[in-house]
Amino acid sequence: MDEQDRALLVAEEREAQRHAHAMYVDDRSVLNKWEEGVLDRVLDWLGDVNTPVLDVGCGVGHLGRVAVARGRRLDLVGFDLMAELLADARIGYRALVQGDIHRLPLKDRSVAAMILSNTLHHVPDRPVALKELRRVLAPGGVVICYDPRRVRPVEAVKRLVRRGHEAFTAHHYAFAPAEYRTMLEDAGLEIERYVAVDPFGPLLATAFDMLRAGTFVDRDRIASVLVAVDRAVEGRDRKGGAGLMLLARATKPSSRTAFRGTP
Ligand SMILES: C[S@@+](CC[C@H](N)C(=O)[O-])C[C@H]1O[C@@H](n2cnc3c(N)ncnc32)[C@H](O)[C@@H]1O
Repeated sequence: MDEQDRALLVAEEREAQRHAHAMYVDDRSVLNKWEEGVLDRVLDWLGDVNTPVLDVGCGVGHLGRVAVARGRRLDLVGFDLMAELLADARIGYRALVQGDIHRLPLKDRSVAAMILSNTLHHVPDRPVALKELRRVLAPGGVVICYDPRRVRPVEAVKRLVRRGHEAFTAHHYAFAPAEYRTMLEDAGLEIERYVAVDPFGPLLATAFDMLRAGTFVDRDRIASVLVAVDRAVEGRDRKGGAGLMLLARATKPSSRTAFRGTP
């Protein structure tokens, strides 16, 4: 992708995020509450790491709030394209940086770990973005990423529901499991853990929001039931692969010789 095409797509994403802002801060949203339960697991997968931890595409700062609620000291740095969203990320960050993931305003090897929760599927030029992420990650550093899995019937429903919705661009993406793995490996990252999770939560939480159920019922309760149901179903799936979301933990090899891709 050339720089001009990328710039156009990033501008489209900016416009979509402007429209999505109200959804991210809607405190009646079951999806937002459900996401807090999901971020709990993302933090579990991060484990004990050195700091600072970069929250890439932090948006309005859901992760910062969950980290504080769990008493995790991650020395979080929030990074996002949108100054408007960063303005709402008030809890849990020691610093907030605005910029484009395709050109991170950070020094080489300056970050001990990073989390990309629901970020990569918004990014138009993922090979360039991942090269940047790898550049700023310290050797041995950890990357946790979490994004939608492509399941054809679900994608068809999403397209129908989002038709004409200004908060979603045409490049809003979902990954085939093998594609996600390859994307991370091609960026020179070593995958340690990788699984498809959350078989029902994303759809049911969205459905509750569409029915505006969060206005009338206890959305915290609904969200925690959805998380619990997904965990129970995942526990029975011995292959560990039937979820609607992909969750990966990868590391940057300590030795440069371990990377066989384009430097
Ligand atoms: C679905 S939101 C996820 C927000 C947050 N991580 C969460 O889990 O609540 C996607 C985020 O990615 C950010 N984003 C999209 N494209 C980006 C880019 N090129 N550079 C940096 N951030 C970007 C958006 O502004 C938005 O905040």
